[in-house]
Amino acid sequence: MKNIILCGFMGCGKTTIALRLADQLQRPYIDTDAAVVERAGKSIREIFEQEGEAQFRLLEQQAAAALSKQGGCIIATGGGTVLNAATAQLLREGGTIFFLDVPEAELQRRLARVTNRPLLNRPDRSAFITRLLAVRRPLYLAAADVVIDCAGKSPDAVCAAILQHCPQE
Ligand code: S3P
Repeated sequence: MKNIILCGFMGCGKTTIALRLADQLQRPYIDTDAAVVERAGKSIREIFEQEGEAQFRLLEQQAAAALSKQGGCIIATGGGTVLNAATAQLLREGGTIFFLDVPEAELQRRLARVTNRPLLNRPDRSAFITRLLAVRRPLYLAAADVVIDCAGKSPDAVCAAILQHCPQE
């Protein structure tokens, strides 16, 4: 059975939606961030602080490559996972990649006060989100098999929109 893979910017709802889908479909839920934490034996913040972002990216690509070999799972990727074209290709071979496209204003609102994203730990957070989203959105669009326009949609509506593209489910 194919995997359902969710990608998109931090705060777009990948984890929330993946957990709901896993519950609805009674299929395993997998999170690439959790797989990285397990492999490294430390938190994402610790990896960034102690080993740097480049090492985090390496672990992330390794974890995603390993997960792509599983079938029938609901996979929530980290916000940077599919930006690596080779990783996106591996994931795509094992399933369908959905991009959760959330408007910037909503992302800004959701990310304004989070403390668990090392990349956002900076004084110019809002401007940084604007810049990073401008760079990344075209890459998410390129990586995705299906784009889900999440503007104004509830989590249930997002799940329903994804399931429309999974006729076998
Ligand atoms: C990152 C997103 C995070 C996590 C790490 C880096 C990114 O995951 O992988 O902090 O580069 O966008 P979420 O998208 O689940 O927040």
